[in-house]
Amino acid sequence: MSRDTPVRSIPLALASAGALLASGCPAEEEPPTGFIDGFLWGTASAPWQVEGDYDPDPTDDFAVRSNWTVWTERGCVERGQTNPEGSGFYTRYEADFATMAAMGMNTVRLGVDWTRIEPEDDRWNDAELDHYVDVLRAARAAGLEPMVTLHHFVAPTFIQDPAEDDAVDLLLGDPSLGVDAPFAVQFREFVEHVAPALGPWVDLYSIVNEPFSVISGGYLVGGCGSGAFPPGALSIASSRTVHSNLLFAHAEGCRALRALDVDDADGDGAAVLCGNAASNNVVRPLVDGDPEDIAGAERIDWIYNHATPTALLTGDVDLDFDRAFDTTAAESNLPMDEGNYPELAGTLDWMGVNYYGPIRVEGLPGGALGGFPYIDAADYDPTLPRSTLGYAIDAAGFEEILGRFARYGLPLYITENGLGEDGDTNRPMYIVEHLDALQRAVVAGADVRGYYHWSMTDNFEWAHGIDQRFGIFGIDYDDPELPRIRRSSADAFEDVIRAGAVTDTIRERWVRERYEGPGLR
Ligand code: IFM
Repeated sequence: MSRDTPVRSIPLALASAGALLASGCPAEEEPPTGFIDGFLWGTASAPWQVEGDYDPDPTDDFAVRSNWTVWTERGCVERGQTNPEGSGFYTRYEADFATMAAMGMNTVRLGVDWTRIEPEDDRWNDAELDHYVDVLRAARAAGLEPMVTLHHFVAPTFIQDPAEDDAVDLLLGDPSLGVDAPFAVQFREFVEHVAPALGPWVDLYSIVNEPFSVISGGYLVGGCGSGAFPPGALSIASSRTVHSNLLFAHAEGCRALRALDVDDADGDGAAVLCGNAASNNVVRPLVDGDPEDIAGAERIDWIYNHATPTALLTGDVDLDFDRAFDTTAAESNLPMDEGNYPELAGTLDWMGVNYYGPIRVEGLPGGALGGFPYIDAADYDPTLPRSTLGYAIDAAGFEEILGRFARYGLPLYITENGLGEDGDTNRPMYIVEHLDALQRAVVAGADVRGYYHWSMTDNFEWAHGIDQRFGIFGIDYDDPELPRIRRSSADAFEDVIRAGAVTDTIRERWVRERYEGPGLR
């Protein structure tokens, strides 16, 4: 094996090596293989995290005001932070795209913000939709294939208004109405409105980002502060309602896209590819071999990683997460009957994996939230080094989860993967180790089509504001110009993109003995 080839090779690599030798090229010049031709390399962001509440035209009669705007105004984010303009992406997207392209990236994952486009029920701000079309046109012009998210935690206040005295929450609308539930209907109308405009630029849609973050942050933490998302509720029943409403919204969004985005933007024969972006973490028992911990881990694994894709692939809905689909609403206070909902089935063309780190589970789920055992039983693995947000760091878990998701037989995209740390001591190694793990998974047969690092720049990390830094470019928030400051992480990522693989040279440059230093927890 030459010094610069991946650790493992695959039959394809051997075949191409043979061809190169036969053609007289020296073996050292063999390009590293594993990732498919046209593999997508890019970064991911969410609109509100990088655009904030920036209002491009304060003189029009539309306000930019979302559930998260209200949440920040209520002081529910750490240190009472608000988010006036995120990382300034709204006005700096062209420069950011130029930087991405100069690094060799060929894709970008971003979102369009429902709040900007439909600030009030059935009142549309088409100047904002035009803006997003300009953004997408600029992405294509820079050679970046866009992947677009349509719901990334943020919604207009007529959908969810977490005001203390005037709470509105269509996510809690009657889910037994299925695709006619209020949230699904409103989301469908939004998607119907934007799909024809986005169509000429977009084929890849990660429709709803991390349903479980919406559920856990919004309905299982409780209160204002302590990392909670709006509306800050604490209710197992609500969390189940929200889960089913998000399933139906995804399905309706996908159907609307398939009907109304008829443009094959990149000419590959597919005008719309519906996907998700789920927080998929390896789940392990706290004590290896402990039967209760194993049972708990299996259950959390189902909740976290498999219940949602199962519903979107087969239509089978499991609301009490017991891996059966047979409980009626009357029997157990569920918001609707479990069972098969054909309108959900077949609404995933690919699966998005947001991987941050492994979780350990102690005992069988129980305690205060026993019916929805997410928070009281599971936590990021305490035996591993952790990011400033507490996410455990373990590249092997990434390889493991990809191996498991490969069994679904659908194309996979890594829709997010990244490290929050103060500074940039560990992130370059994190990037290289995780891409190495991805490469091993690909070599072992996982059909991965692209990788999006979270994130290009520092941005507003929800309940933690700008105190959590995920960018391969830092932002100087004290400077009104919000300058982008290149970190070594960008060099590490660029090394891999340029090589099209993780090579020995890249490992030697970036991988150290261990994760350590003041940047971590
Ligand atoms: O910033 C978030 C993103 O919005 C969703 N996935 C996890 C990221 C880091 O916490």
